[in-house]
Amino acid sequence: SGKKADLLVRHAGQLVTVAGHSVHPKRGQELTEIGIISDGAVAVSDGVIIAIGPTAEVEEQLEIDDSCKIINADGKVVLPGLVDPHTHLVFAGSREHELEMKIAGMGYLEILARGGGILDTVRATRAAGREELVQAGRKYLDQMLAQGTTTAEAKSGYGLTVEDEIKTLKAIQELNTTHPVDLVATFLGAHAIPAEYKGEPDGFVRLVMAEMLPRVAREGLAEFCDVFCEEGVFSVEQTRQILLEARKLGLKLKIHADEIVSLGGAELAVELKATSADHLMEASDKSIRLLGQSKTVAVLLPATTFCLMGKKYAPARAMIDSGVAVALASDFNPGSSPVNSMQIVMGIACRQLKMNPAEVISAVTINSAHAIGRAAEVGSLEKGKKADLVVFDAPDYRYLMYRFGTNLVETVVKAGQVVIG
Ligand code: NIG
Ligand code: FE
Repeated sequence: SGKKADLLVRHAGQLVTVAGHSVHPKRGQELTEIGIISDGAVAVSDGVIIAIGPTAEVEEQLEIDDSCKIINADGKVVLPGLVDPHTHLVFAGSREHELEMKIAGMGYLEILARGGGILDTVRATRAAGREELVQAGRKYLDQMLAQGTTTAEAKSGYGLTVEDEIKTLKAIQELNTTHPVDLVATFLGAHAIPAEYKGEPDGFVRLVMAEMLPRVAREGLAEFCDVFCEEGVFSVEQTRQILLEARKLGLKLKIHADEIVSLGGAELAVELKATSADHLMEASDKSIRLLGQSKTVAVLLPATTFCLMGKKYAPARAMIDSGVAVALASDFNPGSSPVNSMQIVMGIACRQLKMNPAEVISAVTINSAHAIGRAAEVGSLEKGKKADLVVFDAPDYRYLMYRFGTNLVETVVKAGQVVIG
């Protein structure tokens, strides 16, 4: 007898805890240490993990009465709820018409320069009301939860006016309070130069800094500020200006860095002590070295490279060997990655980034939690952490990456509640 649990998940064939790294993200060799307990169990009270270990030991410590819900994991794999640290969740419309253009060889930046791409979605998002954005976002979040994502970052960036950016961030806020998936909001006002500022990028940068950022900060609508630092979009200097202002206003920083052209976004992320530098397909050797010596997490988005039909994936192996803390995300958005399944991302990461299955597990749990400042609460299964976990219909954790394109989620527990299964 002992503590009273209201939920017990027991007899997991592999209970993957990823424990012990809530203070610092995992690097190098540590990435493969994922803390597997065979025949494992997790006990929960009030949404929080109160005991974890081999089933027999956990059951010994507990008082289990009829009010305790029991899930028999039946020899299957149990992981911490997946954390997706980079999504563009809230937008209107879709861009399937770009498929033919991309197949014909038109580049992502070329489509954007012609007023399509992100700017297409900006037109649709400006025309949509907040409720319409919430409805679309809810549908995508339902899909994500059903595929094992329990915490996600969500960016604005398809409004690009003060009011439309605020509308988007309020949609994110509403989704966060009404949907089981926990969201972390990022302001990405500097995502593209909107049509009305064509040829006048500095004017738009001023709008972002002088009007959007203060309003976002005052209303407490975002925790992070991000910039799409890219050739023909925002320069390194414009990115620095925007992020310095954001930091002054109390926001934490992220950068879309070195995605298509090696501009120096990753170096800037290190210079500004950004929480994360994201994409990094074209990261230079120097920036990999700098990232390895920094606290900035590299968020890699291999589903984007796949959907862009790119040949060059982010240099994940060189990063891991240089001590960079690597996380993985979906980049879910209507253009470069209409993918919101972390299982798909995990399968691509093994095959194209050459990350080992164990490294992938760390990169979608504790390291992705670090990439959004949530590692103290989620990202691993440990006493005192939020009871977010997923039972997968798999005999071994490697089976999750080996199988590809089938949703293997059987049960999802979010804050101690069974939300799927
Ligand atoms: O992360 N690169 C910029 N932003 C997104 C794509 C947005 C879009 O194409 O709608 C990205 O890839
Ligand atoms: Fe992105």
